[in-house]
Amino acid sequence: MTGAKRAQSDAPAPVTIRTALRPGDAAAVESLVRATGFFTPAEVAVARAVADEALAQGPGGGYAFVLADAADDADPLAGYACYGEIPAAEGRYDLYWIAVAPSHQRQGIGVRVLAEVEAHIARAGGRRIYIETSSQLIYAPTRAFYRAAGYLQEARLADFYRDGDDKLIFSKALS
Ligand SMILES: CC(C)(COP(=O)(O)OP(=O)(O)OC[C@H]1O[C@@H](n2cnc3c(N)ncnc32)[C@H](O)[C@@H]1OP(=O)(O)O)[C@@H](O)C(=O)NCCC(=O)NCCS
Repeated sequence: MTGAKRAQSDAPAPVTIRTALRPGDAAAVESLVRATGFFTPAEVAVARAVADEALAQGPGGGYAFVLADAADDADPLAGYACYGEIPAAEGRYDLYWIAVAPSHQRQGIGVRVLAEVEAHIARAGGRRIYIETSSQLIYAPTRAFYRAAGYLQEARLADFYRDGDDKLIFSKALS
């Protein structure tokens, strides 16, 4: 399990939320995603490539980001999410990536980033968000995080990623 349980009285970690990508973000996203220890080298490369592509395309491409910068930190990107509208569906969005740096986990940053994603999607007229994740034991905290945020497991695709590693699909309807 990553991170220590946050005391109820602790204030959320101070972070600055932004949605515009900056030139150094692709490298920062790559090292953040790698540092979690949750992703294969191929997945780390995809996270980097998506950020590179989004930087090259600018606003209006298929990927949108929410980034959380920590104050007073040599390595400021504390967390981020990447999402996009599902083509040919009506107001349906995929959350492609969400990650919080290990040193910043369990401080309310993930929930803050996800709430920001949901707010942007709702403002854009989105009605439902989908998230895919793995059934592996190391993702139990991730599943707890999604459930705590109001996401329900809708489907399980057996052995999707590899034998014994199912794909779980969560979703949440935005009100
Ligand atoms: C999943 C992740 C983004 C959560 O970010 P976070 O900033 O640590 O989460 P938060 O502090 O906002 O937690 C919000 C709530 O989620 C649940 N939760 C989060 N981490 C948890 C854990 N390790 N165990 C149990 N519940 C957890 C709790 O209900 C928590 O509220 P609480 O701290 O008041 O009990 C982060 O753990 C992460 O980057 N994991 C590795 C990468 C990953 O799995 N990404 C998703 C790929 S599909």
